[in-house]
Amino acid sequence: MSCAHGWAAIAGAETVFTIEASAITFGRGAIAEVGALAGGLGAKRVAVFTDPRVAAQPIFAAARESLQDAGIDLAVYDAVKVEPTDASFMDAARFAADGRFDAYVSVGGGSVMDTCKAAILYATYPADFLTYVNKPVGGGTPVPGPLPPHIACPTTCGTGSELTGIAVCDVLALSAKTGIASRRLRPTLAVVDPDATRTLPATVVAASGFDVLCHAVESYTARPFSTRAHAASPSARPMSQGRNPWSDVGSAEALRLAGAHLVRAVRDATDDEARERLAWAATLAGVAFGNAGVHVPHAMAYAVAGLVRDFRMPGYPRDEPMVPHGVSVVVSAPAALRATASASPGRHLEAAALLGEDTRGATDADAGAVLARALERLMRAADVPVGLRGVGYGEGDVDALTAGTVVQARLLDNAPLPLDRERVAAIFRDAMIG
Ligand SMILES: [Fe+2]
Repeated sequence: MSCAHGWAAIAGAETVFTIEASAITFGRGAIAEVGALAGGLGAKRVAVFTDPRVAAQPIFAAARESLQDAGIDLAVYDAVKVEPTDASFMDAARFAADGRFDAYVSVGGGSVMDTCKAAILYATYPADFLTYVNKPVGGGTPVPGPLPPHIACPTTCGTGSELTGIAVCDVLALSAKTGIASRRLRPTLAVVDPDATRTLPATVVAASGFDVLCHAVESYTARPFSTRAHAASPSARPMSQGRNPWSDVGSAEALRLAGAHLVRAVRDATDDEARERLAWAATLAGVAFGNAGVHVPHAMAYAVAGLVRDFRMPGYPRDEPMVPHGVSVVVSAPAALRATASASPGRHLEAAALLGEDTRGATDADAGAVLARALERLMRAADVPVGLRGVGYGEGDVDALTAGTVVQARLLDNAPLPLDRERVAAIFRDAMIG
């Protein structure tokens, strides 16, 4: 195993890793198979989750028609909130509980799929909202048992939510962004139809595309699984177990695909090839980070999105300020990777090369700067804000941003090297200006 001098090798270190993923159906026209796939799972009465924008798209009509053609009784919940909250999760859960469904289909972006996961959980095992939410914000109670089948159909090429056991939301009373993480929340099936991305605005492709890229680069540079303590049982092994031989394969190919196709996919909605390649990169990166875990940029993103004041991104609902998830992650990623490169400079240089950066002659000492340069080049080309000032923050926000990040223990623990509060604050200061 390659070096990991950020984390000391420990006695009784992990020697085993586990790969779990949703079953995947991928390709143009795949959405037409949703009905048959649901029937194959024994579904007779299905709840279909979506949001108002997607509900008007051809991809949603195709999913609905496929389910009806398969003779499945269905009810639609189209009130999913972009950037969901504890309140919107629980509203969806009431719909799920009242409908007596035997299976669930979600058609939409990460917000839709995450809302569907939470609705299934709270409808199946009712509890106060914070019961299952990650510590320290919530109680971190394990999901008590199996959940009904969930077929997740992503309509953006980004979040990877169709492949992971994570549901993210804002807890309104605490002004905190957090989530629920359990392998039981992972959808049964992911149906990925790149045709769904044809109608996406350029800004949505950019935000979700950088989310893909960050899933890949963070999985590729996460601490190795072998630096953790040996799990006492398979169920005790964390989902974010660290990078491993399987996640390396998916992350590397996702980086290569994103480097070659992300900017093309943003600039030209008719570039079917680029959008399809990006959807495949999202799928690979989703499986990779679902089993390796992400780290510092995603930990910082919780605070960047949660403390937003007045930033609005074209192409997204404009009724309230919002930093889209992918932007909230990538905006500080160059600074974060500059800080983590010393733990595994070779990995950081490889990631830069996979993104298309010229790394000839670069030394270990250059690794962070070279990878940051690769990211910033792509961000500028895709017209995404570079640096936190671009989404409305300033030096005076560093303390609050740091406080919102250090509580993301699950993510920071997966970083290639330990980071205390001071180092997190230093990364935020570095991230102010791109
Ligand atoms: Fe993400």
